[in-house]
Amino acid sequence: MSFKYLLAAVTSTFSMIMAPANAQGPPDGERLYQQRCGSCHSIEPGQNRLGPHLSGVVGRTAGTVEGARYSPDMQKSGIVWDDKTLDTYLDNPRAIVPRTTMTIALRDAAQRGAIIDYLRKLSPRS
Ligand code: HEC
Repeated sequence: MSFKYLLAAVTSTFSMIMAPANAQGPPDGERLYQQRCGSCHSIEPGQNRLGPHLSGVVGRTAGTVEGARYSPDMQKSGIVWDDKTLDTYLDNPRAIVPRTTMTIALRDAAQRGAIIDYLRKLSPRS
């Protein structure tokens, strides 16, 4: 790889990372989802990655997607995913599911809200 090509690659990666900070208006839930959640969570029913698919997650009982790998704590939590439980879980997963195997957290409340709005659109029953 030539130095010039490398420099171009680094520059474009850098501007991709910087873009959200410059964007105007509220955070884009779909885009944030793709960046922060999509590698582990598909939105296609029946497609589980490291985590369960999140189609229809709003209104769903935690730990109930067939074929997904859940921690025992998630399976016995009895949580029903709604705006409030999702917000708490995404802010600090271990706060409501002590030994959850999902370790990422999203500390920015506006970003959590945007992602939850996006998830609600994938959940026609709610
Ligand atoms: C590194 C992989 C990874 C990333 C990134 C990730 N998750 Fe997870 N997620 C998991 C795993 C693994 C579980 C199962 C946790 C358990 O059983 O304790 C999970 C579980 C969940 C659940 C519970 C689903 C159910 O069926 O009960 C929700 C909701 C969730 N994640 C939302 C999100 C959202 C929203 C994001 C993006 C902000 C995200 N996750 C990012 C791996 C990930």
